[in-house]
Formats: sequence, structure tokens, C-alpha cells
Amino acid sequence: MSKYIVGNWKMNQTLPEIKAYFEYVEKYSAKFNCESWIAPQAIHLAPLMNKSKKIVLGAQNSAPFDKGAYTGEVSPVALKELGAKFTIVGHSERRTYFKEHHALLNKKTEAALNAGLKVIFCVGETAQERNDDRTFVVIEEQLREGLKSIIIPNPEALLVAYEPIWAIGTGMNATASQAQEVHEFIRVQLKDTFPTTGKDLPILYGGSVNTENIESLLAQRDIDGALVGGASLKPEDYTKLCLLASKF
Ligand code: 13P
Repeated sequence: MSKYIVGNWKMNQTLPEIKAYFEYVEKYSAKFNCESWIAPQAIHLAPLMNKSKKIVLGAQNSAPFDKGAYTGEVSPVALKELGAKFTIVGHSERRTYFKEHHALLNKKTEAALNAGLKVIFCVGETAQERNDDRTFVVIEEQLREGLKSIIIPNPEALLVAYEPIWAIGTGMNATASQAQEVHEFIRVQLKDTFPTTGKDLPILYGGSVNTENIESLLAQRDIDGALVGGASLKPEDYTKLCLLASKF
């Protein structure tokens, strides 16, 4: 399986910055031999469509419904129509700041898959939960509740991202072996939940991934790629991450 480098730009980048970013990355993208994905702010998806043959674009969030009276929401159907290929569900920033919980995330996952978007479903524990030895309990619950009754239309439709909250934006990444340990646990859960496809669903690591630590992370058996925040904002770093991932 090709490795994944998914840039989550969060609420960053201006139009001029994006233009310069793509000009830079496009000089190298023909050499990318990995899945190179980027999630800009939703409003920037339209101007970015068709800017690259290589980079797959997706959303950072999408509504739990197709359409209707939901002021301010972005429909997964509209995202699909625009050309977005994936959406991120359950990022810890959405769980924490916007109080998104299991049932809502479950609906968002279902609506996105029904609309034909791939879903990157995020899980991860806080520092306190890790210190209390509750990492596996927390992740098991996030997967069980968030993916309850979900039917995957094909084995590429669902990706899981393990993002320990203590590692996000802190410069303190999980070590390769800490990440592998949790990825292995997630793999077991996915095989249990999805007997035919679970063994093949990509599991990404996120949390202070950079050009220095990417190779040791990707070398782990159950780490199929990375979900990258801060480092993905710099075109040089994103390019380097994709080139390094292309070697696997
Ligand atoms: P950082 O790479 O900035 O730690 O962010 C990770 C993340 O939240 C990606 O979704």
C-alpha cells in the first residue's frame, strides 16, 4: 500500500499563500509516489480544484446531514459535487472546542460515506488518560461508538487517524514504538468491526509529524501514513514529507 501524507491546514493560509504553495509543490509532485492529500479550509476548496494532478483535496469537517435547514453547515453532498474526495471526522479540536461527541461523529461518518466521500476518522487520548493507563479504553470507545453500524462501501473508504492529543501542535510526537503499539491495537479493533476490510484500512499517525521523524514512524508495520498539521503549512516541508513517504 502507498503511504499517505495528509496535510490538515486547519484554519490557516490565505489565497496568495495557497497560490505560492501550489506553485512550489507542483515543481516536485510528479515525483510523489504516495497518496498526497490536503485539507484546506472549506472555502478554499473551490479555487484549488484542478490546481494539481497529484494532490487530492478534501474537507476538514462536514455536516451529519445531506441538506436542509442547518445554517452554517457544509453538506457532504456539496463537497463531493465540488470534487472533494475525503473529509476528516472526529478531530480532537472538533471534539474539544465544538463538543462533538460519539453520536454526532457517527452521523457525520455515515453521511459522508453515503455522499461518496472517504472518511478519515480521528481518535486519540489526552495526556491524563495516557498517564492513567486508559489509552486503549478511550480509543476502543471512540472507535466502537463512532463507527457503530457503519458500512464501508469499499476498502479505501475509511481511514483511521491516531492522534494523541498531547502530541498535537506540541512538538512532542509519540515515539515510533508508542505509535505502533496503539496502531496495532486499532488494527485489531478494525478487524473485529469490519471482518472483510478491517485488515486493509489505512491507519495514519498524527501529532507533531515533521521531516525528521516521518521515516521512523512510517517504518512501523501498522503505520500507513501521517496526518500532518503544522509541518504541512510549509510547502518545502510538505514536499519533503511526500518525497520521504514515496520511498516506502
Ligand atoms: P500537528 O502536526 O501540528 O501536531 O497537528 C496534527 C494534527 O492535528 C493533524 O490533524
